[in-house]
Amino acid sequence: MSDMSVICLKDYKKCGFEVESCELYFELFEEFVIVTNTMEINKLDAQEKHIKLDSQELELLEVYLNDLKLNDTRYDIQEESFTVYNVPNSFSLKIKNKLYPQNNTELEGLYKSGSIFCTQNEPEGFRRITPYLDRPDIMSVFTTTIVADKERYPVLLGNGNKQSSHDLADGRHEVTWFDPHPKPSYLFAIVAGDLGVISDEFITASQTKVELNIYCDKGAESKCFFAMKSLKDAMIWDEQKYGREYDLDVYNIVAVDSFNMGAMENKGLNIFNSHYVLADEDKATDADFMGIQSVIAHEYFHNWTGNRITCCDWFELTLKEGLTVFRDQCFSADLNSQEVQRIEDVKGLRERQFVEDASPMAHPIQPDSYISINNFYTSTVYEKGAEVIRMLHTLLGESRFREAMDLYFKTFDGRAVRTGDFLWAMSEVDKEKRVDFTQFKRWYHQSGTPILEVKDSFCDGVYTLDLKQVVPNKVDEIKQEPFYFPLKVGLIGSDGKEIKEEMLVVSKEEESFVFEGLEAKPYLSINRGFSAPIIIKQEKNEYAFLMKHDKDSFVKYESAQSFALETTEKLMESAELDAEFLNSFGYVLDLDVELSYKALLLELPSISSLMQRQKVVDFTPIYKAKERLEREIATEFKEKLLDIYRLHHKPKNKELDTVSVGERALKNRALRLLSSLESREVIDLAYKQYQESLTMTDRVVALDVLENITSHEGGLALDDFYERYKDDTLVMNKYFSIIAASQREGVLLRVIASQDDEVYDKRVPNLVRSLVGVFAKNYKYFHAADGSGYAFVADKIIEIDKINAQMASGLASAFKIYNRLNQNNKNLIKKELECVISTHSLSKNTYEIISKILK
Ligand code: ARG
Ligand code: ZN
Repeated sequence: MSDMSVICLKDYKKCGFEVESCELYFELFEEFVIVTNTMEINKLDAQEKHIKLDSQELELLEVYLNDLKLNDTRYDIQEESFTVYNVPNSFSLKIKNKLYPQNNTELEGLYKSGSIFCTQNEPEGFRRITPYLDRPDIMSVFTTTIVADKERYPVLLGNGNKQSSHDLADGRHEVTWFDPHPKPSYLFAIVAGDLGVISDEFITASQTKVELNIYCDKGAESKCFFAMKSLKDAMIWDEQKYGREYDLDVYNIVAVDSFNMGAMENKGLNIFNSHYVLADEDKATDADFMGIQSVIAHEYFHNWTGNRITCCDWFELTLKEGLTVFRDQCFSADLNSQEVQRIEDVKGLRERQFVEDASPMAHPIQPDSYISINNFYTSTVYEKGAEVIRMLHTLLGESRFREAMDLYFKTFDGRAVRTGDFLWAMSEVDKEKRVDFTQFKRWYHQSGTPILEVKDSFCDGVYTLDLKQVVPNKVDEIKQEPFYFPLKVGLIGSDGKEIKEEMLVVSKEEESFVFEGLEAKPYLSINRGFSAPIIIKQEKNEYAFLMKHDKDSFVKYESAQSFALETTEKLMESAELDAEFLNSFGYVLDLDVELSYKALLLELPSISSLMQRQKVVDFTPIYKAKERLEREIATEFKEKLLDIYRLHHKPKNKELDTVSVGERALKNRALRLLSSLESREVIDLAYKQYQESLTMTDRVVALDVLENITSHEGGLALDDFYERYKDDTLVMNKYFSIIAASQREGVLLRVIASQDDEVYDKRVPNLVRSLVGVFAKNYKYFHAADGSGYAFVADKIIEIDKINAQMASGLASAFKIYNRLNQNNKNLIKKELECVISTHSLSKNTYEIISKILK
């Protein structure tokens, strides 16, 4: 069993050494790779006698200290470290070791994606390449030389700028890259392959020319143009919004098919999951395009928030991730629709982060301990982290926030810092001392989603809001203190006119706010724009009124959602359907607003959001009630929905402008609602859409609709889809997802059979996520009462853990709602997880997740 020890925030110690420079020489062959690593190292702490480097699964060949070859009494290699004894104050250490990237299925360190050599070093992959002080506060200047067969690997890429290249004997060639910016090892990258490329250029604000390249498999070049456009949009945005320019001669992006996460911001050489690069209208959905735009921007923005200023240790991960997510969210909102972007971001937060925060895996955005840091690339660190930055932005205001960011960049450029340093910059610009940063900091150390209980009253022209914060305890039952947050509220008159909007600052467990000089009791619009990541509980709700009159696009949406949530819950007790709800829904159907936004207003709550409100979760009544609500709506508004569909269905339109995207979103929402009728008419509409539409957006919606109704056409469409796209793995991910998410009977058997499909490959993370990962979110069948869903996923965890621990622990987290479930489901899960955790040589990643769930 590997080392399951817990790493703690409080145990941070500065390193006793620094690496002044690191020169790496990679000799790539088909069967192995030889790495020669030459470091110039200085002792910072005279007490240090020996140097202990991080090293994982490395085969050591030779070691030289100041050019003298060491015999093996002078050093020692263990499972996770490599120590050289008795080192002088300043020395050069040269280590030669051997790697087998073709066998590296963990996809960490140097590995092969198809025939492409590539790397993933964040957080701790570099130690799988060569022994090193593999921690983010060790920043060094890297020179990289790659030697490989020229025909097989004509493209050889490294960080920084290309320094030299030349041909060698035996058909090999050699390229050297130099990165002048000191960086931690997690930002190191190389790529070698026979790649296609599209190139462009960007002139920075200070008139420097930057070469831009996007590399991909040959033949896929035409699918890179949207990514290139997004990159240039991001470069301009960061200049205009934050005054940040790019700082090298070249910016390279490489798309690979086998990648554990979305993408990686390696300095000057981003490596991407091809899902976030390759797209054309025929093969990518509108949502895929949006994903590309935001991830390309995210990685680009890391160049300043992450690379130039990095994290001191991995407990500070949210310093770069929360901030960079906030930046990419603002970018997407500026380029598209502010209101839709905000709602999508909040939806994502609630679907993923709120669930995590209510589970045994809950942790603060700055965790205080971990077993495997890979498990902490979570929606809490990323998305809640972004909400915390957004609150600072709201509290300080746009221009003060920018001032603070300027100060942050100026003060900490080139350093590895902490969230405390970031908050220092924020507090420095708060000249009027309006924000209590000491209390605000609790967001970094406390976990769980606070609930705000709201009561209001009106008397003699005075409107009083009584607020009570319910702060959840930590997972280990330790009591936590009240949070400090901005709460944007609006008061609306009964005529629907806005009376006032105010930003309250909430800081106490219980407090009241009064509004004077009012004629009558106003309607309350609370947490406008979702100004704080909390749950609001109100005694009495005015959903119908707010859906009609609120000018805040978020609260309008929120009211529609909450109304639908409560209506569904009432249906669970099989009461009559609330007529007022149907009225309000009908009102929204007629609204003249931006179409994508309207599509969101008409979206019914997800199973996950319904589940989160249950004390003891049983999925059957939840999805039965949801299905019934859908049917009632479709029956009541059939003609209206059909009208909307006909008006906006433009099968030959492939454009990506706001109106075209909005039309597709809205008419597909109508089609989905109508599909609950399971009528001949709907089958015909969907099948026609499947056949005649030119966009992948329309095609997958139609396919998904057909999949969920039993019909002859459903089978035809699915077969057609397979034949059409079987050579394109990115599209096949959609195929597997549709099967795995199906609500029809027999899903598990089809998922099991799909694993034998020649397209499926359990070593490719995207495919595993599309099939097994999506199945584990299929509430109906994953939580099947006979335990078959749990047994299948548990088996997969054991199987995949041996291949790729990160993938396995990702799957394991599907069980995190364990403690919320009814006793029958709990018993079934417990049995499976106990079996997984007793598996021989389970990875620490999976062990950490499962042990927390079972605790
Ligand atoms: N820093 C990357 C990002 O842009 C994520 C890399 C995470 N990698 C991992 N193996 N956990 O968000
Ligand atoms: Zn990131």
